[in-house]
Amino acid sequence: MISIRYERILPVRTEIKHFFPMEVINITKKLDRIKAYWKPAIIAELNGQHIKLVKFKGEFIMHSHENEDEMFMVLKGSFQMVYPDKTVTLNEGDMTIVPRGIPHKPVASEEVHALLFEPASTLNTGELRNDFTVDSPEKI
Ligand code: NI
Repeated sequence: MISIRYERILPVRTEIKHFFPMEVINITKKLDRIKAYWKPAIIAELNGQHIKLVKFKGEFIMHSHENEDEMFMVLKGSFQMVYPDKTVTLNEGDMTIVPRGIPHKPVASEEVHALLFEPASTLNTGELRNDFTVDSPEKI
């Protein structure tokens, strides 16, 4: 039987203290740990990007991200992504990319669970700073 010593194969990645490659991440269990709306939590990181989970309900603020594209994937519920000149509805199983520089605002009449994929530098309120701003998302 061959036993593989991963720590010798993988380079030491000192920037990753919380997450470990090859671990199984259960999204349902991670969602159970999220209690507040509009507070994205990081569940994994790779290549300078974060995978986050977020629960939300109601209306966010219109904002944009100068340098980051954002991916939203709906795990539960449905919501509208409102742009200045169009609105798209995302249902469970749908995903979309919000391009950098484009103002956008999620609006949900019911609770939504979503997965986000975006550069680690992404601030949830983009160029704005207010009560919705989460400077250092929790790693769960
Ligand atoms: Ni955004």
